[in-house]
This record gives sequence, C-alpha cells and structure tokens, in this order.
Amino acid sequence: MGNQEDIPVIIGGYMIFFYWDSYYDTGYSLMDTQHKDYIAIVEDLQKSVYSQDQDFFEKQSALFITHLSEHFTTENNLMIKYSYPGYFSHKAEHDRFFDKIKKNLTDLNKKSTNEINNFFEVTYRWFKNHLEINDRKLAKFLIENEKK
Ligand SMILES: [Fe+2]
Ligand SMILES: [Fe+2]
Repeated sequence: MGNQEDIPVIIGGYMIFFYWDSYYDTGYSLMDTQHKDYIAIVEDLQKSVYSQDQDFFEKQSALFITHLSEHFTTENNLMIKYSYPGYFSHKAEHDRFFDKIKKNLTDLNKKSTNEINNFFEVTYRWFKNHLEINDRKLAKFLIENEKK
C-alpha cells in the first residue's frame, strides 16, 4: 500500500513500506499503542531526512529519541513491577538500540543515501526482531500476570 508521499525502506534491494500491520499486535494495548507511534514517528523522520529542512529534521529526531526513551521506560518499569524473569536481557536490548540510534541520528540528513537507507533498515529490522523475540514474550507474561 502506501501513498505517493511515502518513502520506502530499502531492505536487501527491495522496497519495503513500513506500516502498522495487525501482525505486530502483541495483545497488550499499552505496548501496541506505543509501537504504532514508533512506526508513525519513523515514517515522519524519514520524510524529514529527505526534506532539506533542518528544523523539521531536528524536530523529528528529538521526537524519535523522546519516544524511544518513554517507550523503553514504560516496558522496563512493567518488567520491574511484575518481576519479569527476562528483565536484564530485554532492558539491555533497549539500551543498546537507544545508544546506537542516538549516535547514528546525528547529521543523518547530511549522510549518503546508502547510510540513510542503512539507518532505516536498522529501525525496521530491530523493531520486527525485538518485537518477535522479546516484546511478544513480555506481553504474554504481562497479560497472564495482570489476571492474577
Ligand atoms: Fe516495545
Ligand atoms: Fe522491548
């Protein structure tokens, strides 16, 4: 799908449009809402990178960092609250990704097309992998524990 304005993420030579899909649902609504925001924010960030508008880019960069920080804090706090056994490795993945994004986001709009593509490929792949491996497991655990 996608409309004229949308910019694809190039993954292994293929164009991928990064959209919310019910496939990404974890069943835990707070996480799902924030994951939807992630996709929307990445899409706007991508537009800002190609916009030649420095203020727009800086605004979207700041928004992405704020979103990540808030989302990771939300999940980390839920893990602490319910004594989630996989807390340390899950939190470590958040921390690593956060540091990587922060570092690579600096001057992203002045980098080569290849570097820009790599950046968005990472944002897509990480989201999907982290969701499949870690967030789904956490959501299942939270749903079961909140019933108790
Ligand atoms: Fe998440
Ligand atoms: Fe997570």
